[in-house]
Parts: sequence; C-alpha cells; structure tokens
Amino acid sequence: MKILVVGGGGREHAILRKLKESPLCTELWAAPGNAGIGCDATCKPIAATDLAGMVEFAKQERFDYVVVTPDDPLALGMVDALEAAGIPAFGPNKAAARIESSKVFSKNLMKKYGIPTARYEVFEDPDQAMAYIRRQGQYPVVVKADGLALGKGVLICEDESAAEAAVRGMLVEGKFGASGRRVVVEEFLTGPEVSVLSFTDGHVLVPMLSSMDHKRALDGDAGLNTGGMGVIAPNPYYTAEIAAACMDEIFLPTVQAMQAEGCPFKGCLYFGLMLTPNGPKVIEYNCRFGDPETQGVLPLLDSDLLEIMLAVTGGRLHEVPVSWKPGAAACVVLASGGYPEHYQKGKPIAGLGPDGQLAGAKDVTVCHAGTALQEGGFVTNGGRVLGVTATAPSLREALDRAYAAADGIAFEGLHRRSDIGQRALAAL
Ligand code: AMP
Ligand code: GLY
Repeated sequence: MKILVVGGGGREHAILRKLKESPLCTELWAAPGNAGIGCDATCKPIAATDLAGMVEFAKQERFDYVVVTPDDPLALGMVDALEAAGIPAFGPNKAAARIESSKVFSKNLMKKYGIPTARYEVFEDPDQAMAYIRRQGQYPVVVKADGLALGKGVLICEDESAAEAAVRGMLVEGKFGASGRRVVVEEFLTGPEVSVLSFTDGHVLVPMLSSMDHKRALDGDAGLNTGGMGVIAPNPYYTAEIAAACMDEIFLPTVQAMQAEGCPFKGCLYFGLMLTPNGPKVIEYNCRFGDPETQGVLPLLDSDLLEIMLAVTGGRLHEVPVSWKPGAAACVVLASGGYPEHYQKGKPIAGLGPDGQLAGAKDVTVCHAGTALQEGGFVTNGGRVLGVTATAPSLREALDRAYAAADGIAFEGLHRRSDIGQRALAAL
C-alpha cells in the first residue's frame, strides 16, 4: 500500500516509523514532514491545513490510504474531503472532531451523558461569567477558550483579578480570536494526570497503553504550559482497577454518546484524565494521537499499526489483535531555548547520524519534531526539536537509557527537563 501521513512533528515521525514496520506498507510519504522524517519517508511540502492542496496531491499520487494526525486539518474536515474524493483516511470527520475543536461541545456532551468531568458553565457575556465566578468564590478557577488555541487557551486563575483578566482577555479583547468567543469556566481538579489514547471504529474501543505527559516547560512542573516536554508509558498511577472503571464510566459512554449524537468517532480518541479523590474525570478529549504521548506509546505496540488503522476505518476493529510489549518507555524532548515563547532556529545539531538517529544506541529512537537540513547537516527548526525515546524492562532503566542517549545530542540553547518520569517512579 502507498500511504501518506499528514503532519510534520514528532508524533508523525513516531507513526511513520511504526507504519514502516508493517508488511502491508510498500511506500511511505509525509506532507509536509521534516528533515528527520525525510530519512523514513518521502516528504512533500504541503501545509497540513491546505485541504484542497492535500486532496489534489493524494488523488494525483493515487495514495491507497491517508493518515491525518494534527488537530487543525481534522477540525477543518480533511477526512471528509479525502473520503469525498474516494480516498480512505484515518481520523475522525469534521463533526466528530468537534470533541476537541469545541470545548463547549465536549463539555455539553459529558453533561448530557453523565460522563465525569469538572463542574462548569459556558459564557459569552463577560459580566455573567464574572458573576458566576464570584458566586462560586472558589480559587483557583479554570477559564478555557472554546476553540483550538495551540494548547494556550486554558488559564488557571488563582484569584478574582486573574479570572477577570482571563475572561476579559477572551471575551472582550479577543485574545484567542474566534476560539475565545465563548468560554468554559470550570472547577479546578487535583490529582495525577493520565493520558489514554485509544483506537475506536465508532463502536468498539481499544485503549492503548496509558502514559504521563509533562506539560510544563521546567523541572518540578514550573514554567509555562508547552506541547509536552516528555512522557513515560505505562503510567503507574493508572492501575488495572482504575482502567476498568474508566472503560465503563468514561470510554464506552463517550463512544456511545458520539453515536447517539449522530457523529460516531473513528480514529484515535485521546482521553486526558485526572485521577481525582472523587474518581477519574475527563480534563479534555483530543480527536487525535497526542504528542509526545505517541512517541512513548507506539514503540511498545507489538501489533501491526497499519492493520489496526485500516480496521478502524473499515469499522471492523474487533477483528484485529492489539497487543503490547512488556516493559516501559520514556521520551525526553529536546527543545530550543526559550520555548514555548521566543526561540531561535537554524542551530546545527551535533550527535545524529545521517539517518537522523543515534548510532549504536540500543532500543532508542529519535523522533524529529522540528529539524531541517542545512549544508547536509541537521539544524533546529522549531520549539520542540527532537524526542529521544528508549524502551527497557523497567521505567527506571528506560529513563536512564533515554537520558544517556539524549546526552549524546547537542545544539546551542538546548533545553530539556531533567525530571521526566520522577513523579511516576514515586508511584512504583
Ligand atoms: P487542556 O488544554 O484542556 O489539556 O488543559 C491543559 C492543562 O491544564 C491540563 O493538562 C491540566 O494540567 C490543566 N487543567 C485543565 N483543566 C483543569 C481543571 N479543571 N483542573 C485542573 N487543571 C486543569
Ligand atoms: N501532549 C498533549 C497533546 O498532544 O495534546
């Protein structure tokens, strides 16, 4: 099969490397891809959000299957457009992608179907939002923009004046554009966070191994929220008992709710959960694989990813095995100094072989998130630059192996967290 993966980050690289292992896959392309992805697939410089351009290219090159991974093309309806052109694609259609692209949609879905989540109200009027916040009188309070906001639309407000600034920023000053025209004001939850990615064909749902992302930029969960600075899998807080409860109370009810709403979800459904003292609750849904979660989870997948994806699209997920390797994985993200704010690009990267990998590092994979080629060598080309993932029999060994491998890579201004996995180790 000739396959196209839409996107160009670490997540897409991890997916491509797994697809490459499939005996069904004969030709692998990425659009736009990046320099490291170019070592595993042929890259075509089309923006992931260019719907018309992507469909035209897919028709012209006669792809057998297209895997759409980033949130924005899914929210724009790329899967609908590809299917309309007769090209089968992995990912939810536009209506189902609302589970991520509109927090108002997802919160109302959870309320209607009794899926546990933080208490909330939706507002378009800043004065009404503030009146509600004052009436509740509980801080911190969480203010969220309705739409996609590059992970920056969630503000945790410690007091009334911070809440006022958040609400006015979105509803009056229009800081998040159309994404912030409605806000969700919700209760602040506490507890360890767990990411659970799952495959679902709209009826059957198969969870992947659980993981733990590290969203803040600095050690000790300090600093700004980022796309994710590292991940470990499986997540030791997510016990078999909790997993069973999540299946009954959250995962299956969500799949059934989407069916009942007339927009069955096909693809990878991501559950961002918080294990609160009152049980697991949904913090957010994503309509796609998480990044860096995918970089930690897929190396432990023992089954054929392409076979699973095709079964998801074909509505026959019950027919294929989804099994996992024993052991653990750890991924450390190497970012540009200054990320997630201002950072420089074009810094030469030392330590990588011509294949973009670390020579001789056993059970280690380097996924390229933001790299380019300059004079034949890799240079930095984004905020998150590389993800170094190691697998091992135990989490401790996986972490040691990932950090030892990451020590072999250098570029000017390199920033990484030194405490990935520490909270998880404390739970073991
Ligand atoms: P989101 O973009 O919805 O994933 O939110 C980003 C991060 O904000 C989450 O990973 C949580 O760490 C935090 N967060 C979101 N909602 C809440 C909440 N209701 N209570 C506590 N933390 C939250
Ligand atoms: N790592 C969180 C996300 O992909 O949204």
